[in-house]
Amino acid sequence: MKINILNKIELIKDEIISTRRDIHKHPELGFQEIRTAGLVTERLKSLGMEVKTGIGKTGVVGDLKGNGDGPTIALRADMDGLPIQETGDKEYISVNENVMHACGHDGHVAMLLGAAKVLADKKDELNGNVRFIFQPAEEGEGGARYMIEDGCLDEVDEIYGIHLWTYQKTGEIGIKSGPILAYADKFTITVRGTGGHGATPHGSVDPIIAASHLITALQTIVSRNTNPLESSVVSIGKINGGYNFNVIADEIILQGTARAYEEDIRAMIKKRMAEIINGIGQTFGATIEFDYQDGYPATINDEGAYEKLLSSAKKIVGEGADFPYLSMGGEDFSYYAQKIPGCFFFVGSAPTNRPLGSVSHHSSDFDIDEDALLIGASVFVQVIDDLIGKNSQ
Ligand code: NI
Repeated sequence: MKINILNKIELIKDEIISTRRDIHKHPELGFQEIRTAGLVTERLKSLGMEVKTGIGKTGVVGDLKGNGDGPTIALRADMDGLPIQETGDKEYISVNENVMHACGHDGHVAMLLGAAKVLADKKDELNGNVRFIFQPAEEGEGGARYMIEDGCLDEVDEIYGIHLWTYQKTGEIGIKSGPILAYADKFTITVRGTGGHGATPHGSVDPIIAASHLITALQTIVSRNTNPLESSVVSIGKINGGYNFNVIADEIILQGTARAYEEDIRAMIKKRMAEIINGIGQTFGATIEFDYQDGYPATINDEGAYEKLLSSAKKIVGEGADFPYLSMGGEDFSYYAQKIPGCFFFVGSAPTNRPLGSVSHHSSDFDIDEDALLIGASVFVQVIDDLIGKNSQ
């Protein structure tokens, strides 16, 4: 009987799941992934790979040399957790206070190590090389940029990245050509007025009134300035300021995020924000400071890499792979995809014991369906087999 790739991954199911649980129990924040990187290094070395550590500060890169002069394909996992206190009663609940794998990066590492094990076994059949990239600090600090600076893409022809996704069921692969994740920018707006007594507003400039109008007006960027057939988001996530119920504040600080798939829409958002802020400031006599920080660029899947990944994913999950999906989230995989052809894909991993859509990434009770780990690892192996395996020519 011919044993297919999913069967091969199923043979190491216990190892993949226990690796994920081990990392889940010991989460580390960005650029502090010392234990995780140690575990990864040890595993890759035990598979006979050439391993480089300290890439992009705490990242690890393993090279599997095949048996021919075909291309080098990179597979990437991120390793960092989030500053969240885990809740719930899992037996492998985080032992590190206020740190949690609440996005599934523990699973990404486990899937890539599982794929590495199966691929190392068949390296003599590979007409090319596989580079395993374990990067730090995806959650905000852009670990990918540091990995690239340290040469992780040198001599790499294509790259594939994965994300577990609890908004989709196990057996579904979310994938799309072109933009799949958005520009993810951050802004801070400081509204300054003149404080005073709540009963004598006429002598003051009330920054809460100015900020309230501003928040409402900023929503018109999405509803009135963005082509309805395109996408954008402007969200205020935080408001700070004020002293007491009977005091007119002197300063209000707003923080938020702006998202778009296209650079021209991103530029339009910045421009409109500045114009609206200026107008509101003049209207209410407030001084408003605007600090806009560019975040990760949009993640744009290469058409060719997308076609290849889709065809490989179909071999694992059949029509479950034909599931176009995109999100206004941000990902620093975008930096790799700016340099070389790349494709990022979502692996459905909704826990089966909770209603679909109720498990949110970055929540303190985040969890995954661990069966999804087998699918993600299998897709990684399949794409390598299809691109540089012995039947690939
Ligand atoms: Ni994530």
